[in-house]
Amino acid sequence: MSGVTSISPRVYVAGHTGLAGSAISRALKRRGYANVVGEPHARLDLTLPQQVERYFDETRPDVVILAAALVGGIIANSERPADFIRNNLQIQTNVIDAAYRFGARKLIFLGSSCIYPKLAPQPLREEYLLSGPLEPTNDAYAIAKLAGIKMCQAYRRQYGFDAVSVLPTNLYGPNDNFDPRASHVIPGLIRRMDDARTRGDASFGVWGSGRPRREFLHADDFADAIVTVLENYSGEEPINIGAGEDLTIAELAQIVRRAVGFEGPIEFDASKPDGTPRKLLETSPIRALGWAPKIGLEQGIAETVGAFRESGFARFDQRRSANS
Ligand SMILES: NC(=O)c1ccc[n+]([C@@H]2O[C@H](COP(=O)([O-])OP(=O)(O)OC[C@H]3O[C@@H](n4cnc5c(N)ncnc54)[C@H](OP(=O)(O)O)[C@@H]3O)[C@@H](O)[C@H]2O)c1
Repeated sequence: MSGVTSISPRVYVAGHTGLAGSAISRALKRRGYANVVGEPHARLDLTLPQQVERYFDETRPDVVILAAALVGGIIANSERPADFIRNNLQIQTNVIDAAYRFGARKLIFLGSSCIYPKLAPQPLREEYLLSGPLEPTNDAYAIAKLAGIKMCQAYRRQYGFDAVSVLPTNLYGPNDNFDPRASHVIPGLIRRMDDARTRGDASFGVWGSGRPRREFLHADDFADAIVTVLENYSGEEPINIGAGEDLTIAELAQIVRRAVGFEGPIEFDASKPDGTPRKLLETSPIRALGWAPKIGLEQGIAETVGAFRESGFARFDQRRSANS
């Protein structure tokens, strides 16, 4: 492991009950890390510096993976920009600083592909960060994430702290957030289409033309990339983590339709906004470290639908206690 030499380092996964954090905890254990720890939000509020201080003092992790954040889709981001900028700045500042001060040897900070400038060229390369105006609907969240990346770079430069940032594309998977007010594209489509199937709706409506292209990565593939970064990368440049290929929203909706078993047609409402025409990450740096995704979208979405049906909508609330 680059910069981390003990045989079984204590790895603290902040946000271990979430989509990304739960997958990262599983991947670390699969890889043989025997000392992976986490603390549920109910017992440790990372926005509160005293609580973070006490946890790091007691736990003294060797490695910190910062996968805790206030996360949401377009509705949540537009309705609660103050919560998104405040909570995320607080969580990052508290955790990155405590990790350094309490002697962690490495930290990985999760940024996001949605912090690139709205009109950056495609595919998105790491050097395009901060090269133009942001998408206004989530600019508060994006500014917080950009500050986290700068903080990692500043701690590396001033203190020699091995803090690394990664930029994941859209993630999905069995432990996703299916709450319709908060969810992202795939869990939102799954939940709404499953409801439409149960009600016996004749057709299914999707906002926009269906033509924008987007990229999606299974959380387990992402988690393997985090293990690769942990073991093989120590640098100031953030690293994109993506599937390397994209598809249209119309194609995605058809995959979800097959997985859910909805039989009616999908109707696109082109009067509603489409957003950015394309969002695809350039991923040669992470691939050069030896990582490649393994889970195809058809298979991953079918599994996610299965997991969603097993626990229904209650999963979003249950996963918090189930994983704690
Ligand atoms: N999902 C994606 O498509 C995607 C794409 C790019 C980047 N990312 C990044 O990946 C990271 C994780 O995202 P995710 O999708 O896994 O989100 P998630 O499923 O909502 O998980 C977030 C985790 O953070 C915890 N958390 C939130 N606020 C906290 C607080 N104040 N104190 C302690 N814990 C807190 C949550 O616990 P509770 O649920 O109990 O609050 C949960 O465990 C984020 O930094 C996000 O920006 C995600």
